[in-house]
Amino acid sequence: MSENVHAPDLSVNLAGVTLKNPVVAVSGTFGFGREYGEYYDIGRLGAVCVKGITLLPRGGNPPPRVAETPMGMLNSVGLQNPGIDAFLSDELPFLRRFDTAVIANISGNTPEEYARMAEKLGDMVDLIEVNISCPNVKAGGMLFGTDPALAAEVTRAAKRAAGRPVLVKLTPNVTDIAHIALAVKDAGADGISLINTLGGMRIDTETRRPILRMNTGGLSGPAVLPVAIRCVYQVRGLGLPVLGMGGVSTASDAVEMMLAGAHAVGIGSAMFADPYAPMKVLQGLGEFMASHHLTRISELTGGVLPWEA
Ligand SMILES: Cc1cc2nc3c(=O)[nH]c(=O)nc-3n(C[C@H](O)[C@H](O)[C@H](O)COP(=O)(O)O)c2cc1C
Repeated sequence: MSENVHAPDLSVNLAGVTLKNPVVAVSGTFGFGREYGEYYDIGRLGAVCVKGITLLPRGGNPPPRVAETPMGMLNSVGLQNPGIDAFLSDELPFLRRFDTAVIANISGNTPEEYARMAEKLGDMVDLIEVNISCPNVKAGGMLFGTDPALAAEVTRAAKRAAGRPVLVKLTPNVTDIAHIALAVKDAGADGISLINTLGGMRIDTETRRPILRMNTGGLSGPAVLPVAIRCVYQVRGLGLPVLGMGGVSTASDAVEMMLAGAHAVGIGSAMFADPYAPMKVLQGLGEFMASHHLTRISELTGGVLPWEA
């Protein structure tokens, strides 16, 4: 018998796409992969989700755009990016050199803009992540993600034009996340990503000025993990593939996320503190499988045993 027969199977299926492992670098925290490529082979990741792309280039919001918070961070970067044409010509070819799935995160001002971007992407990426949850832009973004009808409209527009499976990225800044998830499912989403950042604010007590130049921003990092776990748990009954993210920094956090219902797990802010965080999570998942005698990591998905309410 070959040794490989007992090799733990870390592969997962995310909305019809096989990832070699469930660890995904999330949008806006990994750029287009170039900087992290200096630390390790980014081909070891299950997938890379690129920073949010828009139809036209965007300079983003004025500084300060980032603030530290207890167990997390606030940001109001505002979708700074070179635009979809530059992404396709300058950034995607670099990422395609690595043996990892590529997820394109797109944001638009109108459903038509999402459709135009999905069309331009064609089948050049593995998955499209439709961001309807950015708290840091005036038009579009979170407006779409907090209204089920608008969320569905954007989903339909993107789906009609997309040549690859579409994940819709949801905001936790709603009363009932399952309601929005159901709307995007009915509109044809192949899966969902959650969570984007939680609306937050800090104020300098001496100057009385908000610390972020945009006054408010999005909270991420370990502080939001329980919110993310709760959101993933609340959509698990819909039968939608889920890319779970928000506050994951250890393998144990990733296991929790999968038990709540995630098929794959995103890591974002943790990489600012430790660029190797995804590699450590990956190694820790292998160790967890060994110590718990698991043969397939996908067995964890939705494995939570809730108490009877
Ligand atoms: C600096 C920064 C930039 C971000 N940019 C984007 C973005 O462009 N598009 C998007 O969908 N999410 C963006 N996000 C949200 C993350 O992808 C993720 O949903 C969120 O940070 C929660 O995960 P984390 O706690 O692991 O960071 C950004 C987050 C941070 C911290």
